[in-house]
This record gives sequence, structure tokens and C-alpha cells, in this order.
Amino acid sequence: KKVVLAYSGGLDTSIILKWLQTEYGCEVITYTADLGQGEELEPARRKAEMMGIKPENIHILDAREEFVRDYVFPMFRANALYEGLYLLGTSIARPLISKHLVQIAQEHGADAIAHGATGKGNDQVRFELAAYALDPAIQVIAPWREWDLSSRTKLLEFAEKHQIPIAKDKRGEAPFSVDANLLHTSSEGKVLEDPADEAPDYVYQRTVSPEDAPETPEMVEVEFERGDAVAINGERMSPATILTKLNELGGKHGIGRLDLVENRFVGMKSRGVYETPGGTLLLEAHRGIEQITLDAGAGHLKDSIMPRYAELIYNGFWFSPEREMLQALIDKSQEHVTGTVRIKLYKGSVRTVARWSEHSLYSEAHVTFEDDAGAYDQKDAAGFIHLNALRLKLLATRNARVAGK
Ligand code: ARG
Ligand code: SIN
Repeated sequence: KKVVLAYSGGLDTSIILKWLQTEYGCEVITYTADLGQGEELEPARRKAEMMGIKPENIHILDAREEFVRDYVFPMFRANALYEGLYLLGTSIARPLISKHLVQIAQEHGADAIAHGATGKGNDQVRFELAAYALDPAIQVIAPWREWDLSSRTKLLEFAEKHQIPIAKDKRGEAPFSVDANLLHTSSEGKVLEDPADEAPDYVYQRTVSPEDAPETPEMVEVEFERGDAVAINGERMSPATILTKLNELGGKHGIGRLDLVENRFVGMKSRGVYETPGGTLLLEAHRGIEQITLDAGAGHLKDSIMPRYAELIYNGFWFSPEREMLQALIDKSQEHVTGTVRIKLYKGSVRTVARWSEHSLYSEAHVTFEDDAGAYDQKDAAGFIHLNALRLKLLATRNARVAGK
């Protein structure tokens, strides 16, 4: 049996690797991707080699551009937020990882893929729904749901028995669980488990605290084409470079921190601390350019489907017909979302302060408080209001009649 493992090089997935070899008797193929988590990938290659993985079975991939271009940017066209606040940084990365796992499995003629997500979370659902959507015959091994290494002690014993190197700081329990990529860092569990306790400051990894951010505001210009950011401060950059740059800017000004209790798909509530500096800037700037380039009907329609779209991504249905249908609607809405937004970053906040576009629908001639030279006839508004008020008047009359009885 051959299995492709999503391998980070960390302790947990190294234990999984060894467990697949010893308990399952599998030939293991490893997949390690750079999604912008800010870790070197070569140590993962060396560790895989040390554990007896053949060089041709080790796959290391820089997936940053694909991640931002094909997953993050399409999602940001929708201004997607789960439960009003969460920018979906982990949720959007999972389908990409599954796609690569399935591709590699097909190349090697492997029967199965394996991941290190627990049986309590969303990530198992996302990995597996995506994998089954792309390859209905694929098998999935989720060791956390199967093995009896339920405690940290048992895990460490297993690691020691199989000579898996354990970093010093991993001997004690890690203080919280982290998932990071170019879009965000998420922290959950352990010291964060009681939502009545404020998160300690050391949880935050890619943003300064707003109190410590620079005293002087910074202006940034983001240029969009058809809903996607293409340039910062006049300089054109690739999607991953843009998000990297926005992360730097947002992180420096303490922007994009979120402490959230959310509803997991599997039914429980969980508390997470998120840092999405670049994504927070991007959402604000994208809304800024939509303000002048989107028609009201188009804008309100896409806003009304946004929660549904966000929930599909959160629940792991990226590769589903309904997500693709909503995506087609959202993409269509972005045809004229082209132009530039100036945002102001200051001590944890980001605000749009200016926006301009060749595709603007904004008409100063119509809206002006000064003489509009006949662009708009204010008398038209009276009839508009009378007809809109008609049913409200009929209702009020009926209600008064019934109450008077
Ligand atoms: N709760 C977030 C989500 O479901 C993040 C999950 C992964 N985070 C982690 N620390 N393991 O998208
Ligand atoms: C996990 O990593 O298994 C827990 C987090 C989640 O999937 O929601």
C-alpha cells in the first residue's frame, strides 16, 4: 500500500509518518508545501530522508502563487467573512493541499492520502471533502482518529522508541496549536481554551500590538483590476508578492488581530486567535474600490450571497457545484472593479480615505449639494416617495381601523 502524507516536518506529522510505516506497513510519499507559513522546507526533506523516504517519494513545492492567485484572490472578490469576522485563512488553504495530495497520489499510483488533522475539527472535513470531490476512489487515512496515541506522553514515547528527533521545546506540551500560511496565522487550544481569559500577548506572531505600532499613520495605495489587487504604491507585483507586502504593512501597524469564538462544522464552538494583517488591508481596499465601481443591485446581490459562500468555504465545499456557481456570479460582478484605493494605516486600524477609477459610477454632477445644472430634477423624488409610501399608508390605515374596533 502506498500513501501520500501531508508532511510539515514537525513532530506530529513525523510521528504519523513513522506510524504509517510501522503500524500500517505503508510505503510513504511525503508532500510539503510552502504556502507562506514562514518555515524552511529543506529540514522537512532531510527529516523525511532520515526516516527512510526515497528521494523520488519526497515532494517539496512552492505553492504560494497558486494559493493566492487561485484561492485567496477569488475568495476576496466576495469579501468573504465567516460569522461576520473570520477571513477564512485556514479554510481556504485546505482544498489546495488536498488537490496536490490527490495529484501526487495519482502520479505514484498510490491508494491513499493521509493528513494530521484531528477528529474534532474542521480541517479533516475540508481535506477529505476536497479529496473525494477530486478523486472519488481515493482512500483517506486520518491517524488522529485511529491510533491509541491519545496522550502527549504516549506520543513522545512512540517518537523516542522510533528515534524521531524531538525539539527541546516540544517535550513539554506546546502552549497552543498553530496553523500559518500567507493569509493568516491561527492559534487555538491549550492556553486559549477558556474564552473568558484574554489571550496572552505571546500568542501573536505576525502583528505588533496596536499600542506599540508607529505613532505616525502610513498611506498605502492599492490598485485593482477586475477585483484583484495588482499593484501597491504604483508598483505591479505578483499575487503572492502583493499579499506578502500587505502583511508587512499591516503587521507593522498592528492590523488584523481577531479573537473569536466560532461554530465549527462538527457542532462545537471553538475559540481562536487570528492574525490576518494583509487580508484585513485587502478587504478594506476591495470594499473601497467596489464603492465606486459596483452598481447598487449588483453589490447588494453579491453581499446577500456572501455569508453562504463563506460558509461553503468554511465547511469544506470549495470543490462543489454550488461554490462554483456562486463564484461565477461573484466573478461576473467584478468586471468593472478596476481602479485605485488609498488606505490609511494607524495603530491597529485601516480606513479607506480616497478612491478613483476610470470605471467609476460616482457622479458628482448628480450628488452635489451645489447647483447641479439640471442633472437631477428634485421634483421627481416626490412621486417616487408617494408610490413607495402607498402600501405603508394602506397598512397604517388598516391597523388603525382594526385597533379602533
Ligand atoms: N478554526 C480555524 C478554521 O477552522 C482554524 C483551524 C486550524 N487552526 C489550528 N490552530 N490548528 O478554519
Ligand atoms: C485540528 O487541527 O484538527 C483542529 C482544528 C480544526 O480542524 O478546526
